[in-house]
Amino acid sequence: MRLRKYDATRDRAPVQRIWREAGWLQRDEEQEEALDGFIEAGFAMVGEVGGAAESVSVTARGTLRYLSDDLPMCALSAVTTSPVARQQGMASRLVAACLASEAASGAVVAVLGMFDQGYYDRLGFGTGGYEHLVRFHPAWLTVEDGPRSAERVTKDDWKEAHCARLCRQRAHGGLNLTPPAITRAEMVWTKRPLGMGYRDGPGGTLSHYIWCSAENLEHGPYHVRWMTYRDRKEFRELMALVKALGDQIGLVSVLEPPSMQLQDLLDRPFMQHRISQGSAFSAGIRAFAPWQVRIRDLQGCLQHTHVIGGPIRFNLVLEDPVEAYLEQDALWRGVAGNYVVTLDSTSYSEPGMDPSLPTMRATVNAFTRLWLGVRCATGLSYTDVLVAPRNLLAQLDTALRLPDPKPDWEV
Ligand SMILES: CC(C)(COP(=O)(O)OP(=O)(O)OC[C@H]1O[C@@H](n2cnc3c(N)ncnc32)[C@H](O)[C@@H]1OP(=O)(O)O)[C@@H](O)C(=O)NCCC(=O)NCCS
Repeated sequence: MRLRKYDATRDRAPVQRIWREAGWLQRDEEQEEALDGFIEAGFAMVGEVGGAAESVSVTARGTLRYLSDDLPMCALSAVTTSPVARQQGMASRLVAACLASEAASGAVVAVLGMFDQGYYDRLGFGTGGYEHLVRFHPAWLTVEDGPRSAERVTKDDWKEAHCARLCRQRAHGGLNLTPPAITRAEMVWTKRPLGMGYRDGPGGTLSHYIWCSAENLEHGPYHVRWMTYRDRKEFRELMALVKALGDQIGLVSVLEPPSMQLQDLLDRPFMQHRISQGSAFSAGIRAFAPWQVRIRDLQGCLQHTHVIGGPIRFNLVLEDPVEAYLEQDALWRGVAGNYVVTLDSTSYSEPGMDPSLPTMRATVNAFTRLWLGVRCATGLSYTDVLVAPRNLLAQLDTALRLPDPKPDWEV
């Protein structure tokens, strides 16, 4: 088994085969070209067995919004091992190698969408906050009727669709994956797509739109894969557009947008839930946490944490399980170590221990969740690997009050 950088000449066909075997790619030229762009726009590594790539891991660069700052971020955008080479440790080593190679990009944090919980925990990733998948009959939205006539948005509009995504309103935890090829690929790979929106941007460019995938084009359900808007007016207009689908479509699902409670816009949500239970068009709200995140650079992350009423100082004994999966010559070795952390108007970490300070022991998985505001220190001490004196936990619960992080971009 050998790990190396992706080389399009040698690896294009084997990687397509791996993706087809995973059910992610059809035999279709446009889909294959979209995969080329998706890989070339980021950084990819393959694991070779018997001279052919049998595992591939792809990262994409972008930013993560932390309060009002945009932090350099890398997204693990695709990890796959072919069925003939599974359980050999290939994907784990590839992910670790990709994380190590991101040193050059300056990414301080890494994010991924997980196939299940547990796998990426072994690489230092902690589970993100809950998303709410809201399923409703569009006609029962309480937004004002009668949106303006919208314009079609198709996969051919991928360039401006991507620009609009990057310029959308974002909140704490919000991701932007920078390369336009990512949006192109996501649009090309969308099954039974429907895109609609408005061109109110500078020079008549696309400003706000929804991009959906339909299970059944005639009656739905439709899933809003993403939507972009810059302000309240644009958001309400998109909701009115969704409502207008209600004459034909029986159900729309959407991940709750950042900072909002979408139930506010539903007429009689409990009645909707009761009368649709058990059907393919069942309405309701489901919570789940499909994404994970980890700190790559502790100081790079902490310097964006602003605490009012500080300073809070403590020793941090940080464990990082990624070390076990890194190649021997990897320059980045994870973030395990002993630190003195100061949380203040500007926060920072220094190597070492101060015997006069209380001590927190945590995995990078749990500490990342604390830093990003997924859960408070006391909550994490009950369910994750984070141990500290009760006084320190209470102090952190009061001082670190961050908004609920929402990526608002499916990775
Ligand atoms: C997920 C996938 C990439 C793993 O590839 P792989 O090369 O077989 O993975 P590795 O050999 O590195 O790791 C396998 C180990 O992970 C463990 N594991 C798998 N799922 C796990 C979970 N949810 N929690 C904890 N451990 C898990 C296995 O038990 C095995 O443990 P072992 O090393 O102690 O035997 C592969 O199954 C795949 O391609 N699946 C389809 C595509 C997919 O879902 N990709 C992930 C997208 S996020």
